Amino acid sequence: MPLTLLLLFHILSPVLAWLPVEDWESGNVTTSGGGLECVCSVFLPDSTFPADRVQHMQQVTTDLRLEVEIHMNKLVHYGGKLDIFLGELMDLTVRVAMLESSPDNYIKLDFELLRIELREFEALVSQLKDSFNSTSPTLDSLYTEIHNMTLIVNQLETFDKSNLEVIRIEFAKLQKKLDECQQEQEFVEPDIGNCNHTGIMRVNKPVVFQLNAHLNPGYQYGGWGKDSKPVRGYESMYWYGAYSTPSVYEFYLYSNYDKLLQRSSFTHHGLPQGYEGTGNNYIVHGNTVYYQAANPFRMSKLNLTSSLYSHRQITKASERFTYMYSPNQFLDFSADEKGLWVLYATEEAMGKIAIAKIDEKSFGIEDEWTTNAFKPLVGNAFMVCGVMYATRPGDLKTEEIYYSYDTKTGEEKYMSIPLQKFQEKFVNLHYNPTDQKLYMYNNGYYVSYSVRFNKE
Ligand SMILES: *[C@@H]1O[C@H](CO)[C@@H](O)[C@H](O)[C@H]1NC(C)=O
Ligand SMILES: *[C@@H]1O[C@H](CO)[C@@H](O)[C@H](O)[C@H]1NC(C)=O
Ligand SMILES: *[C@@H]1O[C@H](CO)[C@@H](O)[C@H](O)[C@H]1NC(C)=O
Ligand SMILES: *[C@@H]1O[C@H](CO)[C@@H](O)[C@H](O)[C@H]1NC(C)=O
Ligand SMILES: *[C@@H]1O[C@H](CO)[C@@H](O)[C@H](O)[C@H]1NC(C)=O
Repeated sequence: MPLTLLLLFHILSPVLAWLPVEDWESGNVTTSGGGLECVCSVFLPDSTFPADRVQHMQQVTTDLRLEVEIHMNKLVHYGGKLDIFLGELMDLTVRVAMLESSPDNYIKLDFELLRIELREFEALVSQLKDSFNSTSPTLDSLYTEIHNMTLIVNQLETFDKSNLEVIRIEFAKLQKKLDECQQEQEFVEPDIGNCNHTGIMRVNKPVVFQLNAHLNPGYQYGGWGKDSKPVRGYESMYWYGAYSTPSVYEFYLYSNYDKLLQRSSFTHHGLPQGYEGTGNNYIVHGNTVYYQAANPFRMSKLNLTSSLYSHRQITKASERFTYMYSPNQFLDFSADEKGLWVLYATEEAMGKIAIAKIDEKSFGIEDEWTTNAFKPLVGNAFMVCGVMYATRPGDLKTEEIYYSYDTKTGEEKYMSIPLQKFQEKFVNLHYNPTDQKLYMYNNGYYVSYSVRFNKE
């Protein structure tokens, strides 16, 4: 390691300088006896053997070893720091969103704090850059962007709502970059579509974290995400819908992430009377919205390409058991590497969740499995690689993936994988196989998480 050698040289050179060469050459040698016995004594002029210096050198060597060890630990530590960094940035984003939703509460101090924290981020990223000593384009651009953010905040001497909007969007973009940066540091290889793993190992910190496009915390019910099987040309599309009640009556579509942040949708679909939904456990799959119709109760789909609706009743699905955070959540749609699914509780299993595989062509149920997850105690559930995962509350800021059911083997597992929340309640949580992320609608906020899998 070049760094070790560099350090070694710097630290040892003064020590070598303290041990002059002549000390060792100006001794005296005596002989005694008839040449049979030779006694050699070495006299060192002016001073005795520099034991103290050697000891010092040994101390320095120990220190050096420690220093190298500390440096090695730092590399590990910076990984952790990046995590903390992401967490802090999340808090910042929330603050900016709050500033915006209540501009009257704006005080100069908030900007001062933003400035201070941005300075800290700047220092951290530059530390990261130094410690990894690799040219990382992501880190370089992060550095520039944090610097740019500082400039923007500095320019905001007078309050202006549109400026806050700029900050909000810039922060969100920054978060996405950080997410990419973290993946780069983790050396995560994109393994999209591969189910060659033994399940979820952990869920990263939430990084995309925005108040909904209505900029209204009262819109607690809703969902957001990406198409889990996009049609050509719509790969980067995002969808969003939110309401102040459990009713589902409209969806917005955005051509890409930046448009989502700018709240600039390219189209909007209002569900006509008689087609309204409820329960907020919908997804978009193959340019089609799958949702639970309210009255009559059934599963429905809106084909966004043709604008046509279709419906199917699921007689087995109970209308008595909903997830714990929200009413009317009887049908929970999910899509993974294996296709399209719907989760519901049945009377026959006394409220336990059943997994049903949807045949996309016929829009019918092709197979069904009964799990041991009792729906009223479950926060939400989603499918990954044909395995259902169920969550339950940890503390106010944590949800826990606690249970899984594999439809291929019938195997159940209990586990504890934490999921950080911003607020206690959420109404829509689903996995997207195209980017291996979880999307959550957390009390009016967009949240997403990268999922990491156990590799054998
Ligand atoms: C960092 O990397 C550059 C280029 O690879 C190299 O020239 C330099 O010596 C390295 N610095 C340290 C401290 O390892
Ligand atoms: C070496 O030892 C001899 C005999 O004891 C002595 O005469 C001489 O002065 C010594 N030389 C030095 C450099 O100490
Ligand atoms: C930073 O700001 C400069 C000047 O406003 C701009 O040209 C540049 O594109 C910005 N860089 C990033 C990464 O946002
Ligand atoms: C799955 O992973 C195992 C172990 O890493 C490997 O031996 C095997 O070839 C992989 N199979 C596929 C289909 O990727
Ligand atoms: C949606 O409509 C288009 C155009 O009619 C059709 O090609 C596509 O198969 C439909 N998708 C679904 C999931 O029904």
